Amino acid sequence: MKNIQIAIDGPAGAGKSTVAKIAAEKLQYTYIDTGAMYRALTLKALRTSTDLDSEQAIADLLKDSTIELVPAENGQRVLLDGEDVSEEIRFPNISANVSKVAAHAAMRAIMVVLQHDMAARGGVVMDGRDIGTAVLPQAELKVFMSATVEERARRRFEDNNKRGIESSIEQLQQEIALRDKMDSEREASPLVQAEDAIFLDTTTLSIDEAADAILKLASERMA
Ligand code: DC
Repeated sequence: MKNIQIAIDGPAGAGKSTVAKIAAEKLQYTYIDTGAMYRALTLKALRTSTDLDSEQAIADLLKDSTIELVPAENGQRVLLDGEDVSEEIRFPNISANVSKVAAHAAMRAIMVVLQHDMAARGGVVMDGRDIGTAVLPQAELKVFMSATVEERARRRFEDNNKRGIESSIEQLQQEIALRDKMDSEREASPLVQAEDAIFLDTTTLSIDEAADAILKLASERMA
């Protein structure tokens, strides 16, 4: 069986990270959560009061930063300049600002190089918004995962509950819809399904069912 690249894209709350993590574990592949990288940069921008609208300032900030994804027993840890920020990057103030930061083309060009380097190490499952279209256009398997906005908000609500973050479903629904709009309408690598991606609607699927669907597709591509 050959090692392949698996690109999983889709909007916020579609279940990408959970499913990608399971698939990577089963296949013993590297899992790369690219959203976490944009979140870590957003955290640094907020901490340093960098102008989130400045293309140049955001690109310079990334050049001055180290963002690492490190496998750990309790899942992947995200290190920003060596500091573990895995919890902090999930806070609502990061979710509310990350689309603004992620919109800048100059910064994205640098991110893509980092992501390429991470993917060069063999079998990989990478999730994000532009993986099948911009980061790994040659990926053997591309999946575009989605679900209704209502279901995605419900999942984020449960996620937040588990992390001890207070939120309301109505507000999450509005935030998710706004983030979808910003991510889909931006000029630089917008959230769009790659032509050769397989669409997977997870609205009524359990996590295991979605992971199984991806593993089945992966084994076909590996054969
Ligand atoms: O998947 P997530 O919610 O952690 O992603 C956070 C944000 O990062 C999302 O609003 C869009 C952006 N993002 C991106 O522009 N490109 C990626 N490959 C991954 C995430």
